[in-house]
Amino acid sequence: MSENKYFITGGAGFIGSNFITFLLKKYRNIKILNFDALTYAGNLQNLTTIENDPRYSFYKGDICDSAAINSVFTEFQPDYIVNFAAESHVDKSIENPDIFVKSNVLGVQNLLNAALRCGVEKYLQISTDEVYGSLENTGYFTETTNLNPRSPYSASKAGADLLTQAYFHTFNIPVNITRCSNNYGPFQFPEKLIPLTILKCLRGEKIPVYGDGMNIRDWIHVDDHCSAIDMVLNKGIPGEVYNIGSNNERSNIDIVKSIIHLINDLRSESAISDALISFVEDRKGHDRRYAIDASKIRRDLNWSPSVSFETGLKETISWYLDSPQWIESVVSSEYRSYYQKVYGKRR
Ligand code: NAD
Ligand code: TYD
Repeated sequence: MSENKYFITGGAGFIGSNFITFLLKKYRNIKILNFDALTYAGNLQNLTTIENDPRYSFYKGDICDSAAINSVFTEFQPDYIVNFAAESHVDKSIENPDIFVKSNVLGVQNLLNAALRCGVEKYLQISTDEVYGSLENTGYFTETTNLNPRSPYSASKAGADLLTQAYFHTFNIPVNITRCSNNYGPFQFPEKLIPLTILKCLRGEKIPVYGDGMNIRDWIHVDDHCSAIDMVLNKGIPGEVYNIGSNNERSNIDIVKSIIHLINDLRSESAISDALISFVEDRKGHDRRYAIDASKIRRDLNWSPSVSFETGLKETISWYLDSPQWIESVVSSEYRSYYQKVYGKRR
């Protein structure tokens, strides 16, 4: 049997690097090409455990660069394209929407053009539940919920979804779109709520909680997201959208308090106090609640998550406690100046 070739974009980021490691563990006869621009969020140290694996290679490139994409495609001839590459942080999109439209919309169109030219088994667009907008206290997002993005980030992701669907209908490219809820786990860049809170606790710094802290997110461990992506790549019906989630709705303030509590359980050093929690100015246009109905992927593809939130969060915190070098490597001067720009005025 010939080997399957995966062209993975954004594989040096949080979810992409976990997915590459997942694939190499699960399949023997594969080749992976990781194509990543190494923005502030991309970090090759996420891949040190597999970087010498002969089945893996890396190419530094931008998905907006059609010449680079074309030459790599001609050489590699991928069977599967999995597009993780994106600007992924809502706060950053409020500060600087332009780069979000470039990478998240124009970059996707570029990849779809390349997929059309070369012909592939599957093009998988990694999307987000944020394209559906915001919920009040009740209800869930299903795949038929209208798209109603409300941040520049989610609008750019929705634009990519529409282009992906248009290329399916117009050109018959075998595509899928997955829309997953908020991920957590190892190697997540400390601009997102969970790793940011852990980092702040470790440094004894104030933990910024936006608004009243009662916004709700629906959390899933990155390993469960990876197993769902693998399932959709193999079994997803072309043209279909699949929601991915694992029914873990939590308010932000609950998450922050759980992290403080778990770090205190795990460490013998002096206890972290809830007094570090600092309610700060709310995010502009802050979506109130996300909640995913993932019954379609459970029913049609027989997927289910396997990591409980309590265990997953504890293991994630332990990973950060055990990874001071990784933390040091990502908290570079570029990150610090970005962080100061985005958050400096909030406190
Ligand atoms: P991330 O920010 O950690 O990683 C993004 C990666 O993409 C980085 O390695 C970066 O260098 C690369 N990249 C950015 N622009 C690029 C470009 N123009 N060309 C090539 N590479 C580029 O993001 P993540 O959290 O791993 O998210 C991955 C994907 O999953 C994104 O598409 C995001 O929208 C989606 N998603 C994320 C979550 C979440 O909770 N993190 C949830 C649902 C969906
Ligand atoms: P985030 O991790 O940025 O993911 P997203 O906005 O894509 O859901 O934020 C998760 C939630 O946590 C969101 O409601 C915003 C909130 N939040 C804070 O309260 N403080 C913070 O410092 C950050 C980064 C997020």
